[in-house]
Amino acid sequence: MSSIVEPLGAMSAPAPTGGLSDAVSALPLPLGSRPRHIAIVMDGNGRWAQRRGRPRTDGHRMGANAVRTTVEYCLKAQIPHLTLFAFSSENWARPQHEVSALMGLFLKALDREVAQLNRHHVCIDFIGDLDAFSEALRERMRRAVELTRHNRAIKVNVAVNYGGRWDITRACKRLAEQVARGELSPAAITEAQLASELSLADQPPPDLFIRSGGDQRISNFLLWQMAYTELVFCDTLWPDFAAADLDRAIETFIARERRYGRIDAPARQGGQDHE
Ligand code: FPP
Repeated sequence: MSSIVEPLGAMSAPAPTGGLSDAVSALPLPLGSRPRHIAIVMDGNGRWAQRRGRPRTDGHRMGANAVRTTVEYCLKAQIPHLTLFAFSSENWARPQHEVSALMGLFLKALDREVAQLNRHHVCIDFIGDLDAFSEALRERMRRAVELTRHNRAIKVNVAVNYGGRWDITRACKRLAEQVARGELSPAAITEAQLASELSLADQPPPDLFIRSGGDQRISNFLLWQMAYTELVFCDTLWPDFAAADLDRAIETFIARERRYGRIDAPARQGGQDHE
């Protein structure tokens, strides 16, 4: 069946099978209960490749297809915020050739996909310590952000050289600088002020966290922002991650009762800002 949204352009490998439009239309997504923000740890690329006797980097290349599927799904399902963990602060410790392959893949993805994403009114942003990347990559990221900054269909945040502890530490430094300048009293610091210095401060916190690949941990992703996020883990390796996996995760999310520390659930909304 053809897709409601035209495919988001060709990545370097054939798209995985799995009828996106079938899966999306099969899932009733009442507006008030769908997640407003999904955050994903895309795990399992290396194992996907190794199981096929291929280099781990092939897994990353195929993983790029699942990124496209996921963005397309969020567009169709009107899930306005998506945050993808593409490269953690810890991933620099991987073998040099794998890190280089990932950098090459990010460059290629930016070159190939950004115009198409822009045509679909996707706003792209990057979170993380971008200073560590090559000038070429930073330039592509800047251009992607600039080109898409006024788009309003959905916002896709790509976390690169990101760590939740780095994010919180940076926010603390920013507050400390305000204190040092005499603009802020330590006693007056509130949770809201600290939150306002974090990545994604302008967006609702994730309602739903999904990790593919079978492991059940957060791995230093959005540590502060996910205080009340519903966690869903799935065994699918990321290159095989398809609309059906998103459907299942969202169904699980919808079936959960979010109590935010209370004994009864507040009136159901896709997301609440917190506590
Ligand atoms: C984790 O799998 C995945 C990564 C460290 C890289 C994620 C990158 C992509 C999906 C490529 C495309 C991304 C964009 C935004 C275009 P792993 O290597 O840890 O897998 P393993 O657990 O099986 O070893």
